Amino acid sequence: MKFPFHKKIKTESETVEIAEEFSKLLVPGEIVLLNGDLGSGKTFFVKSVCSHYGILNVSSPSFSIVNEYQSDKNIIHFDFYRVKKIEELYDIGFEDYAMNSETIVFIEWSNMFMEILPKKNYEIEIKFTNNSEREISIVKHG
Ligand SMILES: Nc1ncnc2c1ncn2[C@@H]1O[C@H](COP(=O)(O)OP(=O)(O)OP(=O)(O)O)[C@@H](O)[C@H]1O
Ligand SMILES: [Mg+2]
Repeated sequence: MKFPFHKKIKTESETVEIAEEFSKLLVPGEIVLLNGDLGSGKTFFVKSVCSHYGILNVSSPSFSIVNEYQSDKNIIHFDFYRVKKIEELYDIGFEDYAMNSETIVFIEWSNMFMEILPKKNYEIEIKFTNNSEREISIVKHG
């Protein structure tokens, strides 16, 4: 997989394939931002990456704000959608808890609090191009 990566997606299994390829190059300490349309497949993408690591019980953190998983990889999965103020993220301990060299961090709706994000990251955007087709882009920053 080369960056920037762009692809049109027609089926779930195409998303799974891209997630699987992506999962092979992710290493602990890296941060993956996911933005784009509601229901476009951000959680689905994270689930697909995690299932490649043997983690099968991934659910959307949109109400919990953060979920954590462990296999041979430590995974922290945020969703900023329902966060109202950045203080809520500081209260969770976002920086110490999430930004460490042992953990892979996924953040859905990261654009809502850009000021808290590290400059080095993968930025994934998934958009609908029409009712059934999606477009994914993955950019590596830093
Ligand atoms: N090609 C595809 N890629 C990803 N998901 C797909 C695809 N086709 C259909 N789907 C379905 O679309 C839904 C995407 O939901 P998901 O919760 O992953 O979206 P989301 O982007 O996380 O939404 P939200 O913005 O609410 O967090 C899933 O139910 C999934 O099965
Ligand atoms: Mg989601």
